[in-house]
Amino acid sequence: MSKIFWIFVLAVGGVALVIAVVLTFASLGLAHPVPWILTAILAIAPPLHNWKEHRGFVRWKESYSVGIETIDAEHKSLLRLINNLQSAVRYYTGQEFERRALQELLDYTKVHFAREEALMQEYNFPGYEAHKCEHDQMAAKVDEMVARYEQNTVGAMDEISKFLRKWLITHIRVTDQGYSDFLISKGVR
Ligand SMILES: [Fe+2]
Ligand SMILES: [Fe+2]
Repeated sequence: MSKIFWIFVLAVGGVALVIAVVLTFASLGLAHPVPWILTAILAIAPPLHNWKEHRGFVRWKESYSVGIETIDAEHKSLLRLINNLQSAVRYYTGQEFERRALQELLDYTKVHFAREEALMQEYNFPGYEAHKCEHDQMAAKVDEMVARYEQNTVGAMDEISKFLRKWLITHIRVTDQGYSDFLISKGVR
């Protein structure tokens, strides 16, 4: 369902609720619970909607930091691109926008992986092979999922978006933080 449709539904629902509050107060009086219940619904609806809108979007946390400024900046960009993809999927406005958001995320992921791998190789990080293997496995999995999307599988882009979000956050928090102390000890900032 398009975003415009839902904006319309919410707007009509909001106006109907305001009218219902006014009419029930007028007809039932201040002592009746119904208009107060409707008022309470009217009061909690906007924050509830706001919470629902932001659910599933990722926000940078200091606990994600690997202690290396350039890498943290790239990870922040990755999270922003994940949120863009999430928006494209949630407020479906056409395949073009969705594809562009995915392509941007995948292109940036490729650049970021290459940068991390070069850094680990430059300083002979002992966990380089295992780390690179994780990057390669993720790229292969995404290729497989994109192939399914190309076959017009229903919900495939939503699945890709969720997979990337979960994978990237876990990878940043666990695997990337694994090189943190080593690279910092070599003077990487
Ligand atoms: Fe990373
Ligand atoms: Fe990594």
